[in-house]
Amino acid sequence: MNPTKRLIIAIDGHSSCGKSTLAKALAKKLGYVFVDSGAMYRGVTLYALRNGLITNGMLDEKHLIESLNDIRLEFVFNTTTEKSDLLLNNENVEQTIRQPEVAAHVSKVAAIKEVRKKLVHEQQIMGQNGGLVMDGRDIGTVVFPHADMKFFVTATADVRAHRRHLELSSTGIELTLEEVKRNLIERDELDSSRAESPLIQASDAILLDTTHLTQEEQLDEALTLIQQKTGDFNSI
Ligand code: CDP
Repeated sequence: MNPTKRLIIAIDGHSSCGKSTLAKALAKKLGYVFVDSGAMYRGVTLYALRNGLITNGMLDEKHLIESLNDIRLEFVFNTTTEKSDLLLNNENVEQTIRQPEVAAHVSKVAAIKEVRKKLVHEQQIMGQNGGLVMDGRDIGTVVFPHADMKFFVTATADVRAHRRHLELSSTGIELTLEEVKRNLIERDELDSSRAESPLIQASDAILLDTTHLTQEEQLDEALTLIQQKTGDFNSI
């Protein structure tokens, strides 16, 4: 790998498959910026919930689209977690966007064309100078179709549900394993079947099944694959 060339690495996949963990670890290892694009869709969903645009499970699409110019999303690096926190109109909402209520509605919000247009544009600006690892659903297909490296991460639904259940309970969010699994499967179905930028594996993405991999193993595997594709072993 040419060390002066700062790559764009796209990581897509199903809910809780390990993409964010992998993206964060890769960014740290390579000295790149990590962007969790899902946080941005969660941020828009939180705005909709707070502004009465989701009532009885129904999303007021028209008013959300009209409000898009009032939604400002930024990331600020948190030195404790070593990842970026999401700011929604200047408020740190990193914890709030992980709440079950946001997870329950985010895929409906993410299916709206105008929402995607705004967020994809902002994501592309973040990648202008390379040196970026971004994870999501459409990063290798729509946001950065010419990314230097694309991964499509997967794991069985049971393993994914276990991982997310552990992650949520470590932050004090107590849901049953069944509830967590139901939300993951529901979002996967919505994300894969929507008309706008559905979750699909890009034809040039490398499939990485993390079902039986630890976090260290998935990082090693990804680094090896990057080295194989980009050449120089020593620069990583
Ligand atoms: O962390 P997890 O995999 O559960 O989800 P996330 O990355 O936080 O994304 C939350 C939701 O945002 C997904 O279920 C998708 O509906 C949507 N999303 C999207 O449509 N496109 C992206 N690039 C990222 C997320």
